[in-house]
Amino acid sequence: MHAVAGLIQRRLELFPITATYAPAGAPDCSAELLIGGCRVRTLAQEYGTPLYCFDAATLDAAAQAYHTALARYYPGESAVTYAGKAYLSRAIAQWTQRHDLWLDCTGAGEIGIAAAAGVPRHRILVHGVNKSAADLEMAVRHAGVIVVDNPTELHRLAPMLRASNQDISLWLRVRPGVAVDTHAYRQTGQEDSKFGMSPQEVMEAVRFCIDHGLKLSGLHFHQGSHFHDPAPIGPALETVLDLVAELASTTGWSPQSLCPGGGWGVAYHEDDLPQPDVEHYVRFVAQRVAEGCRQRGLKLPSLHLEPGRSLVARGGVAVYTVGAVKQTATRRWLFIDGGMADNPRPALYGARYSALPVIDPDRPLLGPAWIAGPYCESGDVLIEALPLPAMEADELLAVPVSGAYHLAMQSNYNGARKPAVLWLDKGAATLIQRRETLADLLARDMGIDL
Ligand SMILES: Cc1ncc(COP(=O)(O)O)c(C=O)c1O
Repeated sequence: MHAVAGLIQRRLELFPITATYAPAGAPDCSAELLIGGCRVRTLAQEYGTPLYCFDAATLDAAAQAYHTALARYYPGESAVTYAGKAYLSRAIAQWTQRHDLWLDCTGAGEIGIAAAAGVPRHRILVHGVNKSAADLEMAVRHAGVIVVDNPTELHRLAPMLRASNQDISLWLRVRPGVAVDTHAYRQTGQEDSKFGMSPQEVMEAVRFCIDHGLKLSGLHFHQGSHFHDPAPIGPALETVLDLVAELASTTGWSPQSLCPGGGWGVAYHEDDLPQPDVEHYVRFVAQRVAEGCRQRGLKLPSLHLEPGRSLVARGGVAVYTVGAVKQTATRRWLFIDGGMADNPRPALYGARYSALPVIDPDRPLLGPAWIAGPYCESGDVLIEALPLPAMEADELLAVPVSGAYHLAMQSNYNGARKPAVLWLDKGAATLIQRRETLADLLARDMGIDL
């Protein structure tokens, strides 16, 4: 039993900071999971499963950790941008504004959500590797900063910006030639990456902006997502600050803002603990930027960090109901009512998760379980070989670290209806996105008899 208690404790560290097991409200069990002061079983009964819950206190603490570390380690101005690609809804967009965060939007859809949430123009920053005409039009209509990915985009934007009387700044995205250590699918900074411009292309883009009177105020680079070692940011910063020095001497232009992207990782499984330390990452970046500028005699730019996952992943929990339980030659299968449709990360790049039963987690372990979804793909296995107690049909399972790149990447595969999303704060649960219905699935269908 002692080993079980230790394992539960470690897994609980992956959950939101408010997560706890408390004496159960019902007579048929001894302990049940609470998040944000709310009983998860009661939420599942009321809203159904799969169910996604965001814990406000965990999100608040994550935003505060970035602000505190930047204030402590960076001697100049700074800002934090939430990378909305991790998960975006009107509620999250409004949450960013309560924490003075900028909001990074990719494409017209995300810009539209930010605008609908009332995020002010000067806080909306637009990314995208191949922005369509519609994306650019929405960016010009709503954004304060557009991060230019390539020369073609810059040439398309120039007349649109001249025709607009809005206060829009451009940043240029540099491809520094160094990626962070992460899955190949999440690396973006390497020399042959599809993202950004070479330093030479950036030089030409700066001249183009000067010649065409465009408001250019920043440089950006992002080397990849979900890394645990900030070291590769060092050489990338050297490349970018060398470029800044060369630009200053050859064109007289210097960036007011410098953004080395986001991408700091989180712990998904108990084997990944302890939690990667935001302060360690921010200190590394802040000190390297300050020192690099000092060495080159450059004015300190405003330092922007652009995290997504490390702001929202831990705050999110996915709750599923166990359906069938099956034993095959070597595996105990627990089937749950969600999987690759709401969380494609295990199928996409082998992401490894953990889980806890919502009720009575401290039962003796029965050995490893393979937790699979209902979808028609053998790759629809959410968690492999996770030690769990015996679990039966109708029990609830909670999967932590579900706040980033699940709902943002979810699909309607096999007619799946996207789950309801709750905001949990001080014992109150608010529905921020309702569950999709069959009517939603049919809404785009023209119903034409061919
Ligand atoms: C340009 C850019 N900025 C920020 C991020 C956020 O990364 P993460 O959610 O890992 O912090 C991404 C993610 O891919 C990105 O492409």
